[in-house]
Amino acid sequence: MSKAVVNVKNVRKTFGKKNENQFQALDGVSFDIQAGEFVGIMGPSGAGKTTLLNVISTLDKPTGGTIEIAGTDITTMKQGQLADFRSEQLGFIFQDFNLLENLTIYENIALPLSLQGVSSKKIKPSVLKVAEKLGIQAILDKYPVTVSGGQKQRAAAARALVHEPAIILADEPTGALDSKNAKDLMKAMVHLNTNHDVSIMLVTHDPLSASYCERILFIQDGSLYKEIRRAGSRNEFHQEILHVLAEFASPHEME
Ligand SMILES: Nc1ncnc2c1ncn2[C@@H]1O[C@H](COP(=O)(O)OP(=O)(O)O)[C@@H](O)[C@H]1O
Ligand SMILES: [Mg+2]
Repeated sequence: MSKAVVNVKNVRKTFGKKNENQFQALDGVSFDIQAGEFVGIMGPSGAGKTTLLNVISTLDKPTGGTIEIAGTDITTMKQGQLADFRSEQLGFIFQDFNLLENLTIYENIALPLSLQGVSSKKIKPSVLKVAEKLGIQAILDKYPVTVSGGQKQRAAAARALVHEPAIILADEPTGALDSKNAKDLMKAMVHLNTNHDVSIMLVTHDPLSASYCERILFIQDGSLYKEIRRAGSRNEFHQEILHVLAEFASPHEME
């Protein structure tokens, strides 16, 4: 049996009805994410990154192909099953944190477990454990408005992790952060990935954030364009990423 936590096979997504203006946002995409891997998704605007994230996160259905997460084919599941699957197996981190302002940081982190009906007695050790992993024990009683952007985003990461999902899906998580906080968040994610074996799929425009990944999949026009794996230092990987992105900008590569 393969150890893939995500297996995407020949996934297509067409927007628009038949006989109308159809748009093929994903055109036969295939890849695996192994358990414990930290994979970045990059590509120009309109390439299909968000569409790909949405079909993997069960928020949208692909038009064709299969997607297995932790061994389960999510493309054949019914709506009700999908909601359960999502809340148990997936963790989400968004650009704008999505913390609830009238809940404390503790209550925000506890939310995925509260929503699953886990008792507050069982919730507490899980929240404390994950808060320690992310170094935010000191702010648990505070409200989001009173903490920094970087702390908010680490709280959001803790919330994504508290129910021990099969994979964390992050859509531009550093997009609203300054460079110092962006680096801190990426370091925290690397720490979770290397020390706690958390599998992460990160969609990002930012080459610096992407340089913290182990492997990057570049997509263009709904297809996989290239895949690179980090071999040397993070700096070297950053340069390599910049080179691939420059290929997108060069017209003769776009044919
Ligand atoms: N709901 C939709 N209806 C029609 N076209 C869409 C829809 N969502 C996305 N698209 C199109 O699919 C393509 C890929 O979009 P998206 O996945 O958002 O790209 P990215 O996130 O890489 O910028 C774009 O051309 C976009 O206009
Ligand atoms: Mg997008």
